[in-house]
Amino acid sequence: MTKVAVAVFGAGAIGRAHVETMRRLDSCALAAIAEPSAAGRAYAEGLGVPWYADPHDLLREVKPQAAVIATPNATHRELAIACIERGIVPLVEKPIASTLEDAAAIAVASERANLPVLVGHHRRHNPIIRRARAMIAEGALGRLTNATVLYTFYKPADYFEMAWRREPGGGPVLINLIHEIDLIRHLCGEIVSVQAIASNAVRGFDVEDSAAVLLRLANGALVTLNLSDTAATPWSWDLASGESPNYPPQPVAVQTHFLSGSEGSLALPTLDHWHYASGKSWFAPIRRDSVRFERGDPYRAQLDHLARVVRGEERPLITARDGALTLRATMAVHKAAKTGQIVRPDQEMEL
Ligand SMILES: NC(=O)c1ccc[n+]([C@@H]2O[C@H](COP(=O)([O-])OP(=O)(O)OC[C@H]3O[C@@H](n4cnc5c(N)ncnc54)[C@H](O)[C@@H]3O)[C@@H](O)[C@H]2O)c1
Repeated sequence: MTKVAVAVFGAGAIGRAHVETMRRLDSCALAAIAEPSAAGRAYAEGLGVPWYADPHDLLREVKPQAAVIATPNATHRELAIACIERGIVPLVEKPIASTLEDAAAIAVASERANLPVLVGHHRRHNPIIRRARAMIAEGALGRLTNATVLYTFYKPADYFEMAWRREPGGGPVLINLIHEIDLIRHLCGEIVSVQAIASNAVRGFDVEDSAAVLLRLANGALVTLNLSDTAATPWSWDLASGESPNYPPQPVAVQTHFLSGSEGSLALPTLDHWHYASGKSWFAPIRRDSVRFERGDPYRAQLDHLARVVRGEERPLITARDGALTLRATMAVHKAAKTGQIVRPDQEMEL
């Protein structure tokens, strides 16, 4: 089968990770790179692929079938719409945009043109998450009651040398927690209200370093999320799931997600399924089954999926509108922390 020709915009941290993944795939071929820096030019030349400083020039001259948009968030709207106008399927890195207006504009452009847009919430492609979602849909947990998520980790001091990471918007709510908000929506259901408190007590920057968040879901389930980028713990999906080679493997299994329901519960990433064999009661023994699954690289699966979407074989696992809903709920966390009020995402902006 012919490989789908994919351009990459932005050869920074995640752009290069996509390029390296693509080089190992049968489904996609790297068509060209657009990246203004001299380092990006040298990188493209080293790979022997066409280089452009400006993605618009690339789009005019190369005509790829798809483009991975791995540039700063504020550029996503302009670049995604430029792709849509040329019939090129964009995979827009998360967050879909830096504002809800930009996110909505991408969704509207995608729908008007009837051209699919994918958003890079790669965790949805992890086989662990796919299995968990299927089990919840099959009723293994019964009616969902609660979810508890631990997302605590330690970012080293040099991470904060870039000024924007010390300022509002550069903190762990928009950069990291958005992954958990997306997973909760994907696994457990739509978020109807958000309460939050945030703190900058440890690092003392203008941006939060920790937050505690409460969500109410449309199905009545309640969720607590604990977040910190200044806590020395192994309790984060990135460390515990082993999905990225950037983080060292953990010597013992660590759980980060606890999903509870009336018939059973599920701990992730190990996929331990707890349930009663008979006589549901806290006085009766509760058993644990370890659900079998094949480990897999979600970034790889995401690019394979992109190729199938381009060929018309699949619909996006996360569309632009879905990505906008995740962004809206994540922004509601900031507003709830700032105001001390309960925030209803659907009253923030119609999407
Ligand atoms: N899904 C994930 O796991 C994940 C991980 C990290 C970052 N991200 C997202 O990916 C995006 C990029 O993040 P990063 O950490 O790679 O940032 P980065 O700063 O390392 O890289 C961004 C690159 O884009 C280039 N650039 C800027 N404007 C450009 C333009 N108009 N056209 C082409 N290139 C341009 C910059 O020169 C830079 O090299 C962000 O949206 C971020 O939130 C996603």
